[in-house]
Amino acid sequence: MYRLQSLAARSLIAGALDQCSPLTLTSFTGVRHKSQGPPVEKYGQMRFITAEAKVATERLNGKMRERTLTMETLNPQVKAVEYAVRGPIVIKAGEIERYMEEGGTKPFSEVIKANIGDAHAMGQQPITFLRQVVALCTFPELMDSPSFPEDVKWRARRILEGCGGHSLGSYSASPGVECIRKDIAAYIEQRDGVPADWENIYLTTGASDGIMTVLRLLVSGKDSSRTGVMIPIPQYPLYSAAISEMDAVQVNYYLDEDNCWALDINELHRAFQAAKQHCQPRVICIINPGNPTGQVQSKKCIEEVLHFAYEENLFVMSDEVYQDNVYAPDCQFHSFKKVLYEMGPEYFNSVELASFHSTSKGYTGECGFRGGYMEVINMDPEVKAQLVKLLSVRLCPPLAGQAAMDVIVNPPQPDEHSFKQFHQALGMQPDMLYCLRLLEETGICVVPGSGFGQKDGTYHFRKVTLNMHMSHYVVFLSQINKTAQKTKNDSSY
Ligand SMILES: Cc1ncc(COP(=O)(O)O)c(C=O)c1O
Repeated sequence: MYRLQSLAARSLIAGALDQCSPLTLTSFTGVRHKSQGPPVEKYGQMRFITAEAKVATERLNGKMRERTLTMETLNPQVKAVEYAVRGPIVIKAGEIERYMEEGGTKPFSEVIKANIGDAHAMGQQPITFLRQVVALCTFPELMDSPSFPEDVKWRARRILEGCGGHSLGSYSASPGVECIRKDIAAYIEQRDGVPADWENIYLTTGASDGIMTVLRLLVSGKDSSRTGVMIPIPQYPLYSAAISEMDAVQVNYYLDEDNCWALDINELHRAFQAAKQHCQPRVICIINPGNPTGQVQSKKCIEEVLHFAYEENLFVMSDEVYQDNVYAPDCQFHSFKKVLYEMGPEYFNSVELASFHSTSKGYTGECGFRGGYMEVINMDPEVKAQLVKLLSVRLCPPLAGQAAMDVIVNPPQPDEHSFKQFHQALGMQPDMLYCLRLLEETGICVVPGSGFGQKDGTYHFRKVTLNMHMSHYVVFLSQINKTAQKTKNDSSY
């Protein structure tokens, strides 16, 4: 209370000082010394007032104390960082928006932000079940409300029981809430059909945090022994930014654009051999499914990469944040962990692998929760202790993000109350919803494939194109999920 009062006084004084002349300042400062509280507090205030007075006086005299942190003294590694997703073009877009808000004109009516995969910012509605669980965790008084189904309450109670003081406002253990780590391990086991140890799971602040943390462990050495980090090109710029910041060596391997951006094992060999001349390649980063390229790696390709990593002693970082965003019927997501297991004990007992997932992507797109996890296997136990040490420096990832991650890996089951709503698409079939949205957002009217009959689990729309004389027409029946994946590939770069 005492501190609060003194802070309040501080801001009042700061506000007052802005209005005062230097002469008034001196006498004002003097008055406060005489009239205020015990000596220590008085001294604290005096120091503050003096500093404020100095700034205000110098401002008036046109003089400013020289800054300690300038572009000359700034960490050069920070200067080297580039982040295209929010770079100069995006800053310019913000300026154009403000210009238009102030009445300025452009040959378009709005800036459409297609620079970042932020689904909610673009109007995606949250999944009710996820938000209900997080709402109850945040405000447990709602547990008594009849508006929340029992399965939601059960999950929220379970998460809260894992939190210190049964509150989402507590810190968790640095690797995350234990029951959430166990749920994630169960999810991975179910997804891959191979064992997952919950003690290898670490909750993170989005996948970005996990990726940065693992890279931090891997970067070392000087000059030609400096860590080389193999990354795909095109890449998601978190990687190049992290490499610059850590002053590691970026080793580019190019994805094959002529082959739907596939990863070519010969290109990995080329990049590795070239990099060995000037650095020590220690890690290979994979983005599967790819961003910005949208490709989904085949099992054979993953086996080749893992074999390559095994032969060349590379640590594998597999960014799998888009694992739920596979739409093309001829593509399937295979986790690196699963393929590693299937390659046999020689591989799965030795290749060091960290895989990353996130609340930001998939069908939830909950970027703002900053939830994520990584699974780390075959890490040297002593290094693992160092990893935990590093994680504990930032205490723990946000608890709300951990709760959101739990819901994603632990969605409603068919026998649970929320299952039906969870699987609805606003009360209509997905192809109907697609056509409705297309009409509302673009004015293009096509009809859903369900009106014509289609195989279960596939969704189409029918589009008719008339020729000039209206005597012939062409009917296109397009599969919605196939088109979406194709569009992602075509437009992504
Ligand atoms: C490939 C890839 N990895 C990581 C991230 C970062 O995800 P998060 O929001 O979980 O930090 C993104 C975000 O777009 C991404 O595309």
